[in-house]
Amino acid sequence: MKKIFVFFLLLAAGGLQAASLPVLELLPPDKTRGTAVMQALAERKSTREFSPEKLSLRDLSDLLWAANGVNRPDGKRTAPSALNRQDIEVYAAFEEGVYRYNAAGHMLLPVAAEDIRPVKDAPVVLLLVAKEDTAYAPIDAGIVAQNIYLFCSGVGLATVTRGSMDAEALAKALKLGKGQKVILNQPVGYFKQKPAQKKEEKSSAQ
Ligand SMILES: Cc1cc2nc3c(=O)[nH]c(=O)nc-3n(C[C@H](O)[C@H](O)[C@H](O)COP(=O)(O)O)c2cc1C
Repeated sequence: MKKIFVFFLLLAAGGLQAASLPVLELLPPDKTRGTAVMQALAERKSTREFSPEKLSLRDLSDLLWAANGVNRPDGKRTAPSALNRQDIEVYAAFEEGVYRYNAAGHMLLPVAAEDIRPVKDAPVVLLLVAKEDTAYAPIDAGIVAQNIYLFCSGVGLATVTRGSMDAEALAKALKLGKGQKVILNQPVGYFKQKPAQKKEEKSSAQ
């Protein structure tokens, strides 16, 4: 079954509490997929409409690794960070609940069984959270955002990075500690209308 998460169905049916959300083990990243970097750059763009289809486990796993996963044996990440503080944590908000991405274990750890997505049309909204409210945090978050953009561009997913949100309400829902701050939110999904389809429609309309 490609399109995902049987356990989410169980959650929806059972109305389970946050504590009982399961840990989601992700697939090891497929480092061979996607277009060349130059093509990903050429096609990078913001998209604000999404198909309601859930992301496959393959796409979700690779998305999170590309965003800020561990890419070297010494624990360093796909995104650089000032002084290697690795200060940006990625949370993934689904209709069924919100999780924190554990980069070292490449897994999603449950945080709350509630729908806190700032964009309800997207199957997942990534929340880029600074561990400390420093001058570098927004810069480091911006780099993670661009990793997400380039992954999405390279594999044909839709995304937009967003500063618009109720950061305080999100911080409360995520149970963030003092100094932690949600900097950006980034919905990700399949295109509502695939770019290739658009091209076909254009040529048949001519
Ligand atoms: C820091 C930052 C904050 C942004 N906030 C929003 C936002 O709140 N809502 C939105 O729709 N787009 C937001 N954007 C996306 C920009 O509007 C978009 O990047 C810009 O219009 C250029 O379009 P492009 O990404 O397709 O090149 C943001 C972009 C950045 C870098």
